[in-house]
Amino acid sequence: MAAKAWGGRFAQATDPRVEKFTESISFDARLAPYDIQGSQAHATMLAHVGLISDDERDQIVATLDEIGGQIAAGQLPFRTELEDIHMHVESALTEKLGDIGRRLHTGRSRNDQVSTDLRLYVRDAIGQIDGLLRDLQSAFVARCERDADVVLPAYTHLQRAQPVLAAHYWLAYCEKFGRDRARLQDCLKRVNICSLGAAALAGTSLPIDRQMTADLLGFTAVAGNSLDVSSDRDFLVEFTFCLSLIAAHLSTWAEEWIIWFTTEFGFLKLPDAYTTGSSIMPQKRNPDVLELIRGKSARPIAAVGQLLVLIKGLPMAYNRDLQEDKLAAFDAHDTVSACLELAAAVVEGAELQRDTINARIEEGFLDATTLMEYLIKQGVPMRTGHETVGKLVALCESKSCKLADLSLTELQNACDKISDDVYGVLGTANAIAAFQSHGSGGKAPVAQRIKYWRAELKM
Ligand code: ARG
Repeated sequence: MAAKAWGGRFAQATDPRVEKFTESISFDARLAPYDIQGSQAHATMLAHVGLISDDERDQIVATLDEIGGQIAAGQLPFRTELEDIHMHVESALTEKLGDIGRRLHTGRSRNDQVSTDLRLYVRDAIGQIDGLLRDLQSAFVARCERDADVVLPAYTHLQRAQPVLAAHYWLAYCEKFGRDRARLQDCLKRVNICSLGAAALAGTSLPIDRQMTADLLGFTAVAGNSLDVSSDRDFLVEFTFCLSLIAAHLSTWAEEWIIWFTTEFGFLKLPDAYTTGSSIMPQKRNPDVLELIRGKSARPIAAVGQLLVLIKGLPMAYNRDLQEDKLAAFDAHDTVSACLELAAAVVEGAELQRDTINARIEEGFLDATTLMEYLIKQGVPMRTGHETVGKLVALCESKSCKLADLSLTELQNACDKISDDVYGVLGTANAIAAFQSHGSGGKAPVAQRIKYWRAELKM
């Protein structure tokens, strides 16, 4: 029977179907660099407290480096019967170092080991996703200058509402992705905790120094309860949730741009490099990248549910169910990473169709609310102003004209507080110019926010 690291009490060989069913090396091999890093720190700590000699430590650390190189180069064959990445690394070490390798697993278990590997992995992943988010934000901010002259209709219920500068749209996405970045940093606080040394579930009678391991691995604290450590995947659920919200933001952006890319809207031109054609309709140019960014958001969003269902019925402490956590989290991470990368490229490459946008920018009474606010400034109660402008809009609809086309007499018939200066607020350009509140879509507030984001993103 194949020699198993845990084979001592077994009389029968494992059924090969069980080996195939229980293995995780097919998906946890990507934890190899973290497993090696964790083992090197562990060996260093073991030597420090006298559980192995300095010479043993040096051999273990150097050989682990070697094994890491072999795995990276695809030179370490994976064997189903060795189950997972932890067993592969340990068995390779023992093959090379004999009894010295057999000392490495002193004072630890795969339960605290896999938790540590995952924490190191997620810590890196947070840094990587943060970088991609920053690139995407920068792409939006860079558009602000390119599109400085463009005014867009903003919608609620997909009905024209009020005008905003195009840059206001771009910065709205910066805000969302900014919160996503802050959320990741907050998540990092709970990720960056050292599990190693919690051993199987109860800690150990050996004189290990958990603080030293934590320091060596750059963790900010040592986890306080060994039972909790073995069962805890909160940090992974949280990270996946952060990813799912990024995906949701990407998806709403993609949806918006898919709509803008339609012939009916015609606001946007997407570069050929980021669109695809139809196998039958020769004229087609489809926003497949945006559609897949929208579609792939299903994966991280589903992963959060998958992880919560995975952990919700588990008793303390480690249960093998937890092995499934990696499938959900890795897929969520890979998906969001790929989406973010392409999103930045699409944002950079897209062009606003100024002529189409401008041709219809006076439609939809985008200045109605500004007219109401003009009335408020003349002392009219808000509700009365609302009613008055509603009636004027109805009048325009019956005459097929815009508010700015109404004569002063028509306007004054609706409200005698209106005077000639009303024409200074009517029309989309005037409506835009009138915005002054903090965070609004007019020139000054938007310019202020561009400045903020440029400083924030060091652009
Ligand atoms: N491959 C396992 C996982 O990913 C490692 C931990 C195994 N622990 C155990 N007691 N069988 O969860």
